[in-house]
Amino acid sequence: MTRITILPHEEICPSGAVIEAAPGTTICDALLDQDIDIDHACGQVCACTTCHVVVKEGFDSLNDTTEDEDDMLDRAWGLTAQSRLSCQAKIGDTPIVIEIPKYSLNHAKEGH
Ligand code: FES
Repeated sequence: MTRITILPHEEICPSGAVIEAAPGTTICDALLDQDIDIDHACGQVCACTTCHVVVKEGFDSLNDTTEDEDDMLDRAWGLTAQSRLSCQAKIGDTPIVIEIPKYSLNHAKEGH
């Protein structure tokens, strides 16, 4: 099992969390399995950006991005060089640390 550390997010995970998931699991599935309710508006088919996470540590241990993911990521709120769509990013054997950006595109649209 691989450790995933989630930094605190005001609404989704106020105290942060440390969870474990099997290598090959997507970050999104790993979080949802542990009741960390990250947005996934398109149903995890790489057609939105609401599942965007920033991988603070262990970025290189994830699977490579596809062109589709890169295209979608370009539209994400708060894009960084370590951004991934969590429904497309599969964990490997290296522990990772992730941050859920404060806003997703859904929230931005609603004007929060
Ligand atoms: S849930 Fe829509 S791209 Fe990940």
